[in-house]
Amino acid sequence: MRLILLGPPGAGKGTQAARIGAEFKIPPVSTGDIFREAIKNKTPLGEQAERYIKAGELVPDELVLGIVKERLAAPDTAQGFLLDGFPRTLPQAIAFDRHLAEKGQALTAVVNIQVDPEVLVERLSGRRICRDCGAVYHVATKKEQHPGVCDLCQGQLIQREDDAEATVRNRLAVYAQQTAPLIEYYRIAGLLLTVDGAQPIDDVYRVIVAGLRKRVEQ
Ligand code: AP5
Ligand code: MG
Repeated sequence: MRLILLGPPGAGKGTQAARIGAEFKIPPVSTGDIFREAIKNKTPLGEQAERYIKAGELVPDELVLGIVKERLAAPDTAQGFLLDGFPRTLPQAIAFDRHLAEKGQALTAVVNIQVDPEVLVERLSGRRICRDCGAVYHVATKKEQHPGVCDLCQGQLIQREDDAEATVRNRLAVYAQQTAPLIEYYRIAGLLLTVDGAQPIDDVYRVIVAGLRKRVEQ
């Protein structure tokens, strides 16, 4: 299964990616997580990406395409993958289609998680992530068992720097301008599966899994 998760900042892409990946035994690949890891480790990639991410702007297409191609060359993606946060611009989507075609591969589906912008601001201001493994929590809707400590790896929970409200508003504007056009792009390609992301996490998950199973059986 080769999947893309599409949706605005805070829609629940990372939350759902972890579960869907486990369900279908495909690795979730988050470009945002790759960049955050590179920034944490102060690698050349991190140094190049940091100023864009801090400002809530997109990292240049060429840089993103390079890391995605490299990641999808790894053997664990042989049976498929689940992309979270890529593609995010029309040039990225077009280049990625070309890349898959060269490899004789095709996408199975593009899951579009829809959520109202005001809900997104609230979600992102309450989000906490694990500094070590990137697991996602929320102060009201997805609490950790022991305060400030990741349930999965005991890492420290922190707030993402780009979750400051002004940066969130810019990320939402960037999404509307540069990423939202991809919905139509994938609808025309017959790949789009749109789900209501305002429901509780478990319900969103069930709807996505049911939709994907139906599509695979067709
Ligand atoms: P990225 O890390 O991809 O951030 P994003 O797209 O802004 O999305 P988020 O991770 O903020 O939200 P999410 O949809 O994953 O929601 P989550 O599950 O955490 O990218 C960061 C930056 O990297 C970009 O701004 C850009 O600079 C750069 N970048 C990355 N990819 C790029 C690309 N392709 N091109 C160029 N630049 C790129 O959930 C949010 C919160 O809500 C959590 O607290 C969660 O617990 C809660 N929640 C989730 N679902 C529900 C629910 N159903 N009900 C209630 N609460 C919920
Ligand atoms: Mg995410």
